[in-house]
Amino acid sequence: MRILGIESSCDDSAIALYDDRDGLVAHKIFSQVDLHALYGGVVPELASREHLQRLLPLLDAVLNETGAGKDDIDAIAYTAGPGLIGSLLVGACVASGLSLAWGKPLIPVHHLEAHLLAAFLEKASPSFPFCTLLISGGHTMLIHARALGDYELLGETLDDAVGEAFDKTAKMMGLPYPGGPVLSELARQGDATSFKLTRPMVNRPGLDFSFSGLKTQVLTAWQGSPQTEADKVNLAASFQRTIAETLEIKLERARQAIGFKELVVAGGVGANWEIRERLAAWAKEKSVSVFFPRIAFCTDNAAMVAYAGMARLQAGLVGDETLFVKARWPLEAKPSSGSCVDSPTS
Ligand code: KG4
Ligand code: ZN
Repeated sequence: MRILGIESSCDDSAIALYDDRDGLVAHKIFSQVDLHALYGGVVPELASREHLQRLLPLLDAVLNETGAGKDDIDAIAYTAGPGLIGSLLVGACVASGLSLAWGKPLIPVHHLEAHLLAAFLEKASPSFPFCTLLISGGHTMLIHARALGDYELLGETLDDAVGEAFDKTAKMMGLPYPGGPVLSELARQGDATSFKLTRPMVNRPGLDFSFSGLKTQVLTAWQGSPQTEADKVNLAASFQRTIAETLEIKLERARQAIGFKELVVAGGVGANWEIRERLAAWAKEKSVSVFFPRIAFCTDNAAMVAYAGMARLQAGLVGDETLFVKARWPLEAKPSSGSCVDSPTS
């Protein structure tokens, strides 16, 4: 069985083909980063227009590369939310057009479920139940994944997401967009002990996070320093270390609360080298098996969407939904319940 996956929730246009026996057959992505870098952040209207121009050529590229035609494809999975509504709509309309033209079922995919299932694209993959640390530009969540489609939210950010904190901090220090990866590379050269930053919300019980105060601490430290290149790399390193330590503390708390044996680290910030190193060391010490998707599948991509569509179809979790998109969509909500459609398009 082969599933075509379409991702367009934010600023990456992507198409992939997943086969239940051969695994990932092809995946193509066009990053809009150069376009949005001109404005210092994602411009939703421009993102939608770019998806409109990019998705069909990416589809052609996938079909040409694999030689697949409509008869080789069994269903069309697309990211239905959460995300930028205009961008989601473009992907949804491409998916719907293909579904109607080819007579194939449509599978709406939850973007966060796709992120947490990205670990299944690797040879060594987790098995349910496991804990997921989902850290991206829009979300910071600790999730107890009991089974496919059965997710319990253990904790989440009360304000900025980790990726957002990386991006805003980087912008404040005059680094180019997208700040997260740039700041992270700078941090390699810095001394993480040079600025004393407080790890946010670790002295309060519970599994929620907060990162906006840390951002303010960095701003105050930056403005109070001579702002030399050395200050920049040292502050980047101190900020990143504080984030990595905070995530580790909350993960240990979650382990003590629910006693998980497997951990998946998903989402764009899961590409961060120090977070990966630190959590791998922590997991080894606690005898937890940790699964990181490869870097290209931490950030937005269509391979995870195609995989999620396949997993849902095989598990009988796909209803006969009509086309829909949802800008906001809690992961715990059941996708096939009609009431969760906030932006019906049919
Ligand atoms: O998952 P993703 O591609 O898109 C969302 O669904 O949000 O995540 C993008 C976020 C951005 O905030 C980006 O700065 C951050 O992930 N990011 C990183 C790194 N690579 C991407 N943050 C820190 N270190 C990185 N290496
Ligand atoms: Zn994402």
